[in-house]
Amino acid sequence: MTTEPDPCGFGFFMPMKNSEKEKFNTAFPLIERLCAGEKLSVEEYRLLIDSACEETADYAAKLADKKRREIYGTDVYLRGLIEIGNFCRNDCFYCGIRRSNKECDRYRLTEEQILACCDEGYSLGYRTFVLQGGEGIFPTGEICGIVTGIKEKYPDCAVTLSLGEYSYEDYKKMFDAGADRYLLRHETADREHYAKIHPPEMSFDNRMRCLADLKKIGFQVGCGFMVGSPFQTSLSLAKDLKFIEEFRPEMCGIGPFIPAANTPFENERAGTAGLTLYLLSLIRLIKPDILLPSTTALGTVDSAGREKGLKAGANVVMPNLSPVEVRKKYALYDNKICTGEESAQCRECLDRRIESAGYRTVVSRGDIKRNY
Ligand code: 5AD
Ligand code: FES
Repeated sequence: MTTEPDPCGFGFFMPMKNSEKEKFNTAFPLIERLCAGEKLSVEEYRLLIDSACEETADYAAKLADKKRREIYGTDVYLRGLIEIGNFCRNDCFYCGIRRSNKECDRYRLTEEQILACCDEGYSLGYRTFVLQGGEGIFPTGEICGIVTGIKEKYPDCAVTLSLGEYSYEDYKKMFDAGADRYLLRHETADREHYAKIHPPEMSFDNRMRCLADLKKIGFQVGCGFMVGSPFQTSLSLAKDLKFIEEFRPEMCGIGPFIPAANTPFENERAGTAGLTLYLLSLIRLIKPDILLPSTTALGTVDSAGREKGLKAGANVVMPNLSPVEVRKKYALYDNKICTGEESAQCRECLDRRIESAGYRTVVSRGDIKRNY
């Protein structure tokens, strides 16, 4: 079975000797079973991924959109993303803000700057603020102070943290300070793959421990992974899908890998929009009530990527609320979109795009609507 790069953008996993029809015929019963709420084995998920092609992806997207509409209608939830700083204690091989990147122009927002972003966001209709930053950016006490400050001023808003790995005790403090949700992409559910894209001091087991702790504490938890990252195989993606099925996260962030300058993977190939869209649909079918963002990375590899993401089953977008002067510095990958616009322009542009795709943004915290 050959695994040549494919011309239509579904990544490297398609066994080229199979025709589109054969792929669709393989995927069809598996997609039907997912739709009926059945679980699949890792091997079956792998078959589904190897059956990626236009016809299969279109069919999965149609069913995924139907499921999302049953639960969320055409509502799209907004999250105001505040990139609070790009110092990072980690050294992930793929990430532009890794500690070894001496070219990265480091910054850290002050509490006042963060609150000013929330003020602007609130007036623009955001009711969730996502504080994202490199790992170890602020001591836990400071994070808690910032969260408390936001919740006091905006008790009707949700606060999501995306600040990396901490101990159970630290996460508990953040939760007790008022944080509602935590995003920590698992990055890959394949232990061997994890070791190939992270330095030896980073641990797959600790990542998984963090996710379990976050859930135990009571956060709404988001995991996620990159599509088309170096050394990824259809088996590692199958394990990602199995992990989502078993862990049952409230949220899941996925986007294509995009090479970042001055990182070990700077010359690697980017992941494709096609495969990312197909995976979004499969994730919606695996967990119909999941909060699934159509990511900036997807909009970076395809200019209509975020709209296509919504049509494939995503129901969340995360416009940038960071001060314009720091946006270019938060460069996890190259050519990131929306680094020039003011927050209000970002919001307007997205609203138009979302409407053109047949959905509408709502002013709401946008919590999960559990369907089980
Ligand atoms: N391309 C795409 N996504 C990336 N991330 C980090 N670096 C890259 C890159 N080069 C993702 C990781 C991380 C999230 C904040 O951004 O999955 O968890
Ligand atoms: Fe900062 Fe990966 S480089 S967490």
